[in-house]
Parts: sequence; structure tokens; C-alpha cells
Amino acid sequence: MDAGNKILLIIGGGIAAYKSCELVRLIRKEGGEVTCVLTEGGAKFVTPMTLAALSENPVHTTLWDLKNEAEMGHIQLSREADLVVVCPATADLLAKMATGVADGLATTLLLATDKPVLAVPAMNVKMWEHPATQRNVAQLREDGIRVMQPDEGPMACGEFGPGRLPEPEAVMAAIRSFHAPDPLAGQPDFAPEAHRGLYGKHVLVTAGPTHEPIDPVRYIANRSSGKQGFAIAAAAAAAGARVTLVAGPVQLETPPGVDRVDVESAREMLAAVEAALPADIAIMVAAVADWRAADASGQKIKKDGSGEVPPLALAENPDILATLAKSQSRPRLLVGFAAETEHVVDHATAKRERKGADWIVANDVSGAKGQSVMGGDANTVHIVTASGVESLEPMPKPRVAAALIDRIAKEIANA
Ligand code: CTP
Repeated sequence: MDAGNKILLIIGGGIAAYKSCELVRLIRKEGGEVTCVLTEGGAKFVTPMTLAALSENPVHTTLWDLKNEAEMGHIQLSREADLVVVCPATADLLAKMATGVADGLATTLLLATDKPVLAVPAMNVKMWEHPATQRNVAQLREDGIRVMQPDEGPMACGEFGPGRLPEPEAVMAAIRSFHAPDPLAGQPDFAPEAHRGLYGKHVLVTAGPTHEPIDPVRYIANRSSGKQGFAIAAAAAAAGARVTLVAGPVQLETPPGVDRVDVESAREMLAAVEAALPADIAIMVAAVADWRAADASGQKIKKDGSGEVPPLALAENPDILATLAKSQSRPRLLVGFAAETEHVVDHATAKRERKGADWIVANDVSGAKGQSVMGGDANTVHIVTASGVESLEPMPKPRVAAALIDRIAKEIANA
């Protein structure tokens, strides 16, 4: 975030409102400016005095206290910021936002703003899971509002589940992603239509290897590091998309502004992908294990001293990309990766048809060009589409990610 970034922070009425004080402090620490708006409920949990002291700005609570209403003070307030953050976003606020109710200062500002909006939900688990709330969240996301996933854990009300306000640091990371310089800018092939070209879109990315248990201590795995998939998730978030990253077991930091779901096995990855739908674009970068142990043992398999080796029968894993291609909620653009060691483009072209993907990004993992792709930092890719093949120079994985997101943003813009 740059010094001088202006945030309009709307604080709803829930116990998590106290965490918004910490958020104000974090934004200020990074040089941002904050103006706070308290709903009537919000004012029951934190006082205007606290927020005014922390933000060093006047705090607004009602439509009627804006001095310059002759100059449409509420409209001005909604436009002055470069980002509107609703934290905590209660079930009530989300419902009003989804239906366009403007019955107070906060809801009026949300309807009047022409700036991006980030909503950070916090509520009881049953309220979050209620079909009405889920409908409202889906509607808001379709309208282009970034709604964060609440955290899971014990709640102030004594229940357990998703609904907790994400930690202020995580909210800060999401805020930063709105202000981060577009990684595509400065690229040799940067196109203006790609700038924030994925705003309002949901991008689903799989990354990393999967681990297929043999017994509680052993597993089948592969050498994927997850770096390419994580770089793609980061580039998609920086292009303005809401990103769900389904990650196999890897040692990588979650990119700013990305919702991450950790999984171990191929079957868990498929379930997480299906739970994340609908998505506008899916990019399947994970190196999913093709096979799992047919009968994973619940107990550690022991040597019996006879010198005989236990048999390891394999079963085929579901193909996540092919399943998605046939699904009722198939994303509009479905991109697969293909790790190949020979006849790279021919195999990728056949794979595109066989799996029903729109594009296949083929990477040469033969190591022939002196680079180790699996686990390495660079990649040589060929983008295979229905209309042909585009081969890119060998380049660092973040640049491959930026180039791919650039092509995707153009495709979506032209669709
Ligand atoms: N993929 C998947 N689910 C699987 C296997 C692969 O979703 N069970 C996806 C990968 O994420 C990738 C694409 O399919 O986007 C191709 O993966 P790859 O391993 O190259 O293809 P395979 O089907 O395993 O083909 P082969 O091993 O014969 O090359």
C-alpha cells in the first residue's frame, strides 16, 4: 500500500468490531489514511472517540451529521476513498448490500460508491451457513464485491465453525492486494485491457503436488513445488480477481489477497475444487498424483522379518481437470497444465482434446535446456489453444504467471 491511500472503513454491529480498531492502526502504520463510519450497531461495540483517536479523522455515524449535505456530503464521502472496507460485515449488512437497501449512512455510502469494496464477514456459524446469507454473498461476488472467507474456529457465542472475522493482518493483506502495483505493468507485452482486467471475476487455481497415503507415516508424492501455481494465483489477485487457491502440501506463503484451501490427496483436492465453484476461470496447475494406494492402511505397515515385500496395489485417482470440463458448472475458461518430457506440443494438443480443456499450458520438464522445472524457479511454456500454439521464451515463473494472466484477461475482455 502506498502512503496516502485512502480507505473508507465501515464498521458493522458485531462483537468483532473491536478488531477494526487494530485494523485502523495497521492501515495507519503503513501510511494509509482511514475514515471510519460506524453503523448504529457498530457504535454499541466501539466508540467514535476510540476510532477518531486511532484514525486521526472525524468519525461519521449518521446521514444527518454530514455538514455539507448541501454539497451531497454522503456522495462525496463515498467517492473520496480509493477502497471501501466493510469490517465486520454482519449478516444484516451483507443482506442490505446485496439488495441495495440504503437505510442509514453506511448502506447509503455502499450504494453510492464507485470504488472497489472489500467485505470482511463475521457472524455466528449458523448465520454464515444459512442459505440466505450464502445467496447474498454469491450475489455480492457476482456484483464484483470482494467478500473474504471468514475464519474457522471457536466463536464469541461459544459455537465452532466458519464465521470468525479473519485476523486484522489477513484483512490488511487483502487491502494491500488492491493497492499492489499491477505486476503486468512494465511487462514487454503489457496490454491496458489486462490492467485489473479480472476485477469481479472468480479465478480458481490448483497448485502443488498431492500426497497419497500408504499408511499413517508413508505416502506417494511427486516433485512439484507449487511455485508456478502460487505465482499464477498471485498474478490473478493482482489483476483484481477473487482467487481461490487449492493447494497440495507445499512450503509457500499465501500470496496477498488470495483465499487458500489446503488439501493433501487428489480426492480432497477434487472436493475442495467442487466446493469452490462457481468460478469464471479455472487454472489447474497442480501435479495431481495419477494413482493412490488402493488400500491405505490405518496402521503403520510393519516388516514381519520374513524378508517379503508387502504388495502395493494402486487405484486411479479422479481426473480433476476432466471432471471440471464435464461439470454443470464448468468455468467459462478452463486451463490445464501438461508436464511433458518429449513431443511437448503434440502431447499437449492431444491432452487438450482428451480432457476437454480450453487451453493447455505445456511445460517442458525434460530439463533439456539446462533448467530444472520441478522445484526450480524458471519455466519454458507453450500455450496450446483451439487456434494454435504460442511458445514463450524460458522465463522466471512469476513472469510466466503474468504472461498467462495477461492472455486470460484479454480472452475474457474479448469474450
Ligand atoms: N490433472 C488433474 N487431475 C488428475 C491428473 C491431472 O486435474 N488426476 C490436471 C493437472 O492439474 C494438469 C493436467 O491435468 O492441469 C494435466 O496433467 P498431467 O499430469 O500432465 O496429465 P496426465 O493426465 O497425468 O497425463 P500423462 O500422465 O499421461 O501425461
